[in-house]
Amino acid sequence: MAKQDDIFKNVISHAKEYGYIFPSSEIYDGLSAVYDYAQNGVELKRNIREYWWKFMVQMHENIVGIDASIFMHPTTWKASGHVDAFNDPLIDNKDSKKRYRADVLIEDYCEKLHQKAQKEIEKAKKRFGESFDEEQFINTNPRVVEYYSRKKEIMERMAKGLDSGNLADVKALIEELEIADPETGSKNWTEVRQFNLMFGTKLGASADSAMDLYLRPETAQGIFVNFLNVQKTGRMKIPFGIAQTGKAFRNEIVARQFIFRMREFEQMEMQFFVKPGEEMKYYRYWKDNRLKWHLSLGLGEENYRYHDHEKLAHYANAATDIEFNFPFGFKELEGIHSRTDFDLKAHEKFSGKKLQFFDSETNSSYVPYVVETSVGLDRLFLAVFSKSLQEEILEDGSTRTVLKLPAVLAPTKATILPLVKKDGLPELAQEIIEELKWDFNVAYDEKDAVGRRYRRADALGTPFCITVDHQSLEDKTVTIRHRDSMKQDRVAIADLSKIIDQEVAMKNWLKKMI
Ligand code: GAP
Repeated sequence: MAKQDDIFKNVISHAKEYGYIFPSSEIYDGLSAVYDYAQNGVELKRNIREYWWKFMVQMHENIVGIDASIFMHPTTWKASGHVDAFNDPLIDNKDSKKRYRADVLIEDYCEKLHQKAQKEIEKAKKRFGESFDEEQFINTNPRVVEYYSRKKEIMERMAKGLDSGNLADVKALIEELEIADPETGSKNWTEVRQFNLMFGTKLGASADSAMDLYLRPETAQGIFVNFLNVQKTGRMKIPFGIAQTGKAFRNEIVARQFIFRMREFEQMEMQFFVKPGEEMKYYRYWKDNRLKWHLSLGLGEENYRYHDHEKLAHYANAATDIEFNFPFGFKELEGIHSRTDFDLKAHEKFSGKKLQFFDSETNSSYVPYVVETSVGLDRLFLAVFSKSLQEEILEDGSTRTVLKLPAVLAPTKATILPLVKKDGLPELAQEIIEELKWDFNVAYDEKDAVGRRYRRADALGTPFCITVDHQSLEDKTVTIRHRDSMKQDRVAIADLSKIIDQEVAMKNWLKKMI
């Protein structure tokens, strides 16, 4: 655990030191669970968003994008169920005065059971080698069976308590499992209470006529209320999707995990409208497809897993999370939900307007079913950033800190370095920059010895360093150094653009999915 904590602390301090993420309004001691993206962070975030948009919108003929407002008519949130049911169960520790989500405390307990089972599996894998039958082992090894069935039983009991509003039983479960305050070890808990996560605000100049509004807690509802506008003006045929990226706001009870759980964050969501009865086909398609998209970034297959929901929300008929192995363990990265016709029907009811698709082939109208994909942009940023940050021991025994960001997402694609600050080398370096900057974000660095400049670029995550030396003046060649392998090649200046493009073009990365 201490090691995990250290890794996570290192991620947070590296993000600050290298201009990726700053605490919000830091000169006033910051604001809890609110962060600012700095000069490099904003580029990484923009690239992740574009990578998602290109795949979801540009590569799918039947998906279009919108950008709905953050403010929506307040009835939207009554219809969606957020006013009545967008709650988290909170619990306070009477000794430490710390506040926790009761469900997260229980889930963390279950994750430990899962880890124990995984350890047994790993041990057996080593022991039995090639002849190991993992599935059989999971189903028959008494310890593994016990860990998994215990986990299932606990999760089911928690879901039952939360769904039925039996919060006393959720507290009883915490006590029976002897769950302690993770920071102090105290088991002196208050009752469990529900807490609505929406931020309220007012619209209007005078106090009497001002209207109560909410900051949207998800972008999805902006898509639902625009369903018919988009379908008609875009002449969309079912099945089709509407995608959107944008800010969402939640008054999270516990937000101690950097940008994993923020109060202001960004979502990338897509609602796919299908014919009732066909939703499972598309649910399976998106479940598979979204994982493939994540895998295309090359962060390692072993760092992802599905968590299929056993207990479903009343409006869903299937749901899964794609979980990622963050520095603090496997946690939800993206949700894929088959939401039936719940949202459109609710908006029909509350608005009194029809939200139906007219099928000209059968001459009839119906409310489509919806399969949703929803990923947090900040969470994805954390996944990419934390997995990319590595310490390597080099042959000479020294340590190299390198941010091995997928080149397609790196904020700066190349740093151009004149070997010395004289003899016309800076001028040639600038000429190279003038040419490359039409297509790529590039930087110039002439300070310190070349070795130190390489290390700086490594820590920033820049995939290429291009060094201009005296030979460059004569034969118009430079050395190009690859961040991950540290390999250096002598290449023609005229070929630089092609070489960089080959490694950073979104097209080449997305093609890995096929
Ligand atoms: N429209 C469905 C929806 O909003 P969700 O599971 O509540 O579902 C979807 O959120 C995704 O949004 C999550 O998988 C996560 O990546 C991201 N997310 C949710 N709450 C967040 C928070 N407080 N901070 C950062 N990301 C968050």
